[in-house]
Amino acid sequence: MEFILVDPQARQHVALIRLNRPKELNALNLQLMGELRDALRQLDEDEQVRAVVLTGNERAFAAGADIKQMAGKTAIDMLLADQFATWDQIRKTRKPIIAAVSGFALGGGCELAMTCDMIIASETALFGQPEIKIGVMPGAGGTQRLTRAIGKAKAMEMVLTGRFMTAAEAEKRGLINRVVPVELYLEEALKLAEEVAQMSPVAARLAKEAVNRAFETQLDEGLHFERKNFYLCFASDDQAEGMSAFIEKRKPRFKGR
Ligand code: HXC
Repeated sequence: MEFILVDPQARQHVALIRLNRPKELNALNLQLMGELRDALRQLDEDEQVRAVVLTGNERAFAAGADIKQMAGKTAIDMLLADQFATWDQIRKTRKPIIAAVSGFALGGGCELAMTCDMIIASETALFGQPEIKIGVMPGAGGTQRLTRAIGKAKAMEMVLTGRFMTAAEAEKRGLINRVVPVELYLEEALKLAEEVAQMSPVAARLAKEAVNRAFETQLDEGLHFERKNFYLCFASDDQAEGMSAFIEKRKPRFKGR
C-alpha cells in the first residue's frame, strides 16, 4: 500500500487505517481509493477485527478527490473510469467504521467521512463541499448525505457557496458525533471503536445494516442522480477552467458553458 497505512490490531479488535498522502493533504486519487477499498475488504473478512477507525493527519482528513488527476477528463472518461464502483464497495463494508477527522474534510474528503458510520472530530476540523468553486459539484454522496444530516437550507448553502462548516457547528447540526480537543480526536475515536468492538459482532453487523436501511433505498436513487450530474459537469468549459485555475493558483473565470 502506497497511500494508506493499515494497523489491523491498533487496539483489541480495532483496526486503524490512516490516509497517507500528507503533502497533497490526502487528496483521494484513484490508487488511494483502490487501496482503501482493498484494506476494508480484508478487514471486513478478518474475524479479529470488529470495528475500524479511519483517519488522516492533524492538518487534513482529506482535501477531496485529486483535482490534478481529474482536471483533463471528459464526461465519458469519468463515466468509463467508474470510480464510484470503489466507493460503493467501501459503502458496503459490514463492520462499523468511525472517521477520526482533523483539519480539512472537503469535497470527497467530507463525503468519505460521511460514508463512515460515525464521525469524531478535532476542534480544528473543517467540513465542506467546495466543488462548486472549481466548476463541478459533489459526486460521492455529498448532495444526499449532507442534506439528510443537516437539512436542506444548510446543505444548499454549503454546496452552492463552498463555505466550510466548523467542527462545533457540525456537532450542533448532527453531522458528527462530537468534537474534542485536537490532541484527543484519534484517541476518542479509538475508544468509541473499542466500545463497539465489545458488542456482539453479529448484532453490530445487523444493527448497522438496519440503521442504513432507514434511508438507503432512496439513497441509491439519489446517488445515481448525483453521479449523472457530476459526470455532466465534465462536459462544461467551466470544469476545465475551474480545475486549471486551482492548479495554476489563480481565480477561475467561469463563462457558464
Ligand atoms: C489535488 C490538492 C488538493 C486536491 C490540496 N492539494 N487539495 N491536490 N487535489 N483536492 C494540494 C495542493 O495543490 C498543494 O500542492 C498541496 O496539496 C497543499 O495545498 P495548498 O492549497 O497549498 O494548502 P492551503 O493553502 O493550506 O489550502 C488548503 C485547501 C486547498 C483550502 C484545502 O488546498 C484547497 O482548496 N484544496 C482543494 C479543495 C477542493 O476543492 N476539494 C474538492 C475537490 S473535487 P502543490 O503541489 O500545489 O503545493 C471533489 C469531487 C469529489 O472532491 C467527487 C467524487 C470523488
